[in-house]
Amino acid sequence: MIDPCTLVIFGATGNLAQRKLIPSLYQLEAAGRLPEQMVVLAFGRRPWSRDQWITEVESMLVQKYPQGVDERIFTRFRERLHYLQGDLEQPEGYRILKEKIDVDASFPPNTIFYMAIRPLEFGEVISQLAAVGLLNNKAHWRRVVIEKPFGNDLLSAQVLQASLYKHLDEPQIYRIDHYLGKGTVQNIMVFRFANVLLEPLWNRHFIDHVQITHSETIGVQGRADYYEGAGALRDMIQSHLLQLLTLVAMEPPVLMDEESLRDEKVKVLKALRPITQNAVHAHAFRAQYSAGVIDGKQVAGYLEEQDVAPDSTTETYAALKLYVDNWRWKGVPFYVRTGKRMAEGSSAVCIRFKAPPQDLLRNTKHEAPRPNWIMLGIQPNECLRMEMQVKAPGLDVQTRTVSLDASYRRESEEELDAYSELLLDVMLGDHSLFLRYDEVQWAWRVVDPVLKVWAMERDFINTYPAGSWGPRGTYRLFDRDDQFWRQSLDADGADIQAY
Ligand code: BG6
Repeated sequence: MIDPCTLVIFGATGNLAQRKLIPSLYQLEAAGRLPEQMVVLAFGRRPWSRDQWITEVESMLVQKYPQGVDERIFTRFRERLHYLQGDLEQPEGYRILKEKIDVDASFPPNTIFYMAIRPLEFGEVISQLAAVGLLNNKAHWRRVVIEKPFGNDLLSAQVLQASLYKHLDEPQIYRIDHYLGKGTVQNIMVFRFANVLLEPLWNRHFIDHVQITHSETIGVQGRADYYEGAGALRDMIQSHLLQLLTLVAMEPPVLMDEESLRDEKVKVLKALRPITQNAVHAHAFRAQYSAGVIDGKQVAGYLEEQDVAPDSTTETYAALKLYVDNWRWKGVPFYVRTGKRMAEGSSAVCIRFKAPPQDLLRNTKHEAPRPNWIMLGIQPNECLRMEMQVKAPGLDVQTRTVSLDASYRRESEEELDAYSELLLDVMLGDHSLFLRYDEVQWAWRVVDPVLKVWAMERDFINTYPAGSWGPRGTYRLFDRDDQFWRQSLDADGADIQAY
């Protein structure tokens, strides 16, 4: 049962609200999951009336769902929409907000404040809310949702945290990592903990290495003002990909409640072997895209993108080799990589198993033995595949790789946006899929030494052509010659070693 509540969105006219928040709220409306009297209040600078805001929302939805917005659902949804003009830095808007929430019966007093704004503005908004007493959690709940980046490194994350703790308790804070809202990401836990088959194999005795890849064909898309100061390591690895790694590597939690789950994830982050500054080159690789071809079209290199410094060494590709130094994983490399303007847009976890202890078929076959793989496709193909060897039909004993495919979405089953699940959880007060502060801190500890070394090396960065699988040099991260990036989840593509 969800309490009626008011969702205040700061930055309601921005990119995040437009692409993710509003469409996700609409999805929840369509699914009948929004509480009866819930209200969405957009807080924005523009001098808009409520009707103008509703028209704006409608056009956001039309953009997201070009096939059509359902009249009936939108009629219900529009009733929830309100607009309040205000300047983030001026107390006036907050005073009116307070009045609405305290006095106007159409705004339920349980409130979520969603910071869809620049991280630099979090502190200001939170102290303004505190000044008018809107963060007081006693009579009604007051929750604040913040988006990454949670700081720029360990130190700035600590500073940000101190500024939040001045006015908020930890249970009031919801740090979003939208990867945790993806159904396929949650499926990693279900796959591991609802099936007994895998557990005996899920360790250093059977697993050769783990690969976690997120690749995109898009470039910085006009976000260079943020991306120049972030780069791929902060933008994707410190947050989303380390979260994926924790889900693959963690021990089964005692319970599936929010604290037990997050305790186990923190243990993995703590067990990650620190990369010392001397070891950075052996464990990390960065590069930047140069001009190239994507989907048959010529695209510019990173340095030609708008707002990018001509001598920028910001990485658009980053790869790390990590070790989880604990009983289960000691010695198993976890290779993690991400890149913009790559050959394909996809995210997957690929787990390669060790070779059988003896190659009994070596005299009968002509090709190198192929190991077993388990692959968890996150996007765009949501799938779960297991590759095994079988005998190919015929008179000789020749092996062939077959892929056991357990794709789990039926055609009729709709794909929900990660934000729908997460927004619902904030309303329910469930933190399981949100980051606890210690997770954020430990994740910064992992990447900080690499960031420091890269920040000092400002005169050179490797490049890779847009539309490729990234730089060649990344292969030096592998422990052995027979390890390589898996570029495709198809059995036929298993041994493609394209760059
Ligand atoms: C965001 C990053 O957090 O995640 C973006 O800032 C990236 O740079 C995006 O493109 C990827 O998310 P998704 O859901 O499209 O895989």
